[in-house]
Amino acid sequence: MKKLVVLLFLIAPQVFAQADLASHEAQLKTALFAVENARSSRPDLCSPRSVRADTLFLVKDRDWTSGFFPGNLWLMYELTGKDFWKDKALENTMHLEHIKNYGGTHDLGFMMYCSFGNALRLTNDASLKPVLVQAAKTLSGRFDEKIGLIRSWDHNSNSWKYPVIIDNMMNLELLFWASKETNDPQFREIAITHAQNTIKHHYRPDGSSFHVVSYDPATGLPEKKNTHQGFSDASAWARGQAWGLYGYTMTYRETGQKEFLDQAVKIGHFLINHPRTPADLIPYWDYDDPAIPHVPRDVSAAAIMASALLELGTFDIPEAPQFLAYGKALIKSIQASYLSPVSTNLGFITDHSTGHLPAKHEIDTPIVYADYYYLEALTRLQKLDK
Ligand code: GLY
Repeated sequence: MKKLVVLLFLIAPQVFAQADLASHEAQLKTALFAVENARSSRPDLCSPRSVRADTLFLVKDRDWTSGFFPGNLWLMYELTGKDFWKDKALENTMHLEHIKNYGGTHDLGFMMYCSFGNALRLTNDASLKPVLVQAAKTLSGRFDEKIGLIRSWDHNSNSWKYPVIIDNMMNLELLFWASKETNDPQFREIAITHAQNTIKHHYRPDGSSFHVVSYDPATGLPEKKNTHQGFSDASAWARGQAWGLYGYTMTYRETGQKEFLDQAVKIGHFLINHPRTPADLIPYWDYDDPAIPHVPRDVSAAAIMASALLELGTFDIPEAPQFLAYGKALIKSIQASYLSPVSTNLGFITDHSTGHLPAKHEIDTPIVYADYYYLEALTRLQKLDK
């Protein structure tokens, strides 16, 4: 059945042509006005993250998701070319500037590269560069030479001495950019070392990954392999697998090193051939939840995976057509059954993501980063169509 679905999508006409940009714009405007309204009484709230208890859940600028909403505005500008989106994107980006000095998280890549990174890419305004360079310096401050990895979290220090999560692969893009901009190889060396050690310690022989690996700073070696947001330590948490696929695809693009392409391809095979993928291809929140099929999906994982496959499928590899077809099929499936009907879901474009099931929040709900990677996938499809 799954093979048939992929085949149908393979022979289908261009996917991007079917993207209903007007309805996506209408949704994003709803979110924008809700944020502007909320900010008039709570200026500390900067970004819509999800829907919790039927209410728009807005976060402060230090939340790991704060860069996605400005990122969505930038991607809408890229998709439509309309100055309205550019102006709103710039406005929603600039108030994150001070985050460049925030050293309390590894998520500076998400926060600054989705906001300021897209701003620079789409405007070429050189005044944005020092902000990103400073963010890369702050992120590099979390790298430990002996362990050879960037520390992810400072919380849960009773359980983990030096936790590194698979999600951290996504933050490396900022470092690669910083080396190209400054000609300082150190950022790039940190990113490469981090990516190599993540292959070594996070990945299992089948191409799936642990979520959290914690290291002992005294020895520099891993001492615990756990999960935080997945079903179990040994399971394949869907979004974590998607972060890894995207992270190694990007790392290959930035380095040209075959070891990273091989890793991306291996993860790609694990995901597109997984026996517990449902017929419409949108993954369950964790591939190893024994209650499958009676468990929530995670559209954010599908969107991240789609965007990654739409890049991996452009590389010179035998599997390229298969990866490209699968990426397109994922987007078609999101468009067929997982979008918010216009004027619902408080302005989010997609629905049915799962943020943190074990903590019982953000389950089967709209989430901002699903929209971000869905829109990014549309920009990639737009380019492929051209
Ligand atoms: N990076 C956190 C998450 O994927 O939920």
